[in-house]
Amino acid sequence: MRTILTDSIKIAAYNVKRGDLVAFPTETVYGIGANVFDEKAVSKIFKIKGRPADNPLIVHVASKKDIGILAKEITPSAKKIIKKFFPGPVTVILKKNEIVPDIVTASLDTIAIRMPSSKIARELIKLSGVPIAAPSANFSGSPSPTSFQHVMKDLSGKISCILVGPASKYGLESTVIDCTGKYPVILRPGSVTLEMLRKKIDKRIVFRKSTGRIKSPGQKYRHYAPKAKVKLISDYRLRIADSQSIKEAKVEKQKEAFIGLDKKYLNRFEVVKICKTIEDYAKNLFSFFRECDDNGVKIIYCQKVSEKGIGLAIMNRVKKAKHS
Ligand code: TXA
Ligand code: MG
Repeated sequence: MRTILTDSIKIAAYNVKRGDLVAFPTETVYGIGANVFDEKAVSKIFKIKGRPADNPLIVHVASKKDIGILAKEITPSAKKIIKKFFPGPVTVILKKNEIVPDIVTASLDTIAIRMPSSKIARELIKLSGVPIAAPSANFSGSPSPTSFQHVMKDLSGKISCILVGPASKYGLESTVIDCTGKYPVILRPGSVTLEMLRKKIDKRIVFRKSTGRIKSPGQKYRHYAPKAKVKLISDYRLRIADSQSIKEAKVEKQKEAFIGLDKKYLNRFEVVKICKTIEDYAKNLFSFFRECDDNGVKIIYCQKVSEKGIGLAIMNRVKKAKHS
């Protein structure tokens, strides 16, 4: 298949309308989208991504009034989140309406809804005339794409259109919040942080790690992983201990990389990304994973940060990327 690379939202929307898949920019990561009501188009998403059929998709809307079409009931907590954080890098889970095909929600009775703050994404949805079901535009399991070049690498020749836009502002996927219970529960941490939600929405909000009963099916799969081995580096001693054991084992030194905030690692690794702020760390994590794979890096050390604010989302993605 020939993949059109375009910056015309009109052309991209035309592709959605005729039942094709379109990759498009959002403020979190790039998505690969289809008309939510077109089961055939949605089924292509699962096929192309190699995505398990039991992992539901997020449905993207251009305006708040479209939420009522997709959801059976907008709970009081969801109303508050929508008011404070929509449009933005956040997704709410609500009971779904029958109008939404089962394939979109993996036959769950709930639906994930998000209104991106990216104007390009919203304009695409508007011109398409329908909400757009879209997961991240990568192969299942690999790091989410934060630029159109990443999308090209994974999906060129497999989808009909890539809508070109800027690099993603946040670089990590949206915060997913289950709003169907007594109080909201974070299923996937993101740039709208636990602290922000506790302050603005409800003090009782927690992040439920996906042990036990799986609420967010995507969380049980290994994610975000580059080909290189991912390790956490919490202090320099760990690194020295590692290189010593490599020496002792007389193993040839492998190409290694580091991403984090601490400048002291600058000259110690072949490929290094020192981030100025924690937001910068979040924004660059996935693109760094991809850069490392392109450079033949064998081990990526990620700096450990405290699981506060956006740090919770960064550590969540790093842990999921680690080979067990
Ligand atoms: O930022 C984002 O959310 C990006 C952009 C493209 O919008 N999208 C994204 O989609 O990350 P995806 O499919 O890669 O991740 C969606 C997550 C998965 O973990 C999935 O299991 C969960 O949301 N999810 C979707 N519907 C759900 C539902 N009804 N109940 C619980 N979790 C759900
Ligand atoms: Mg994904």
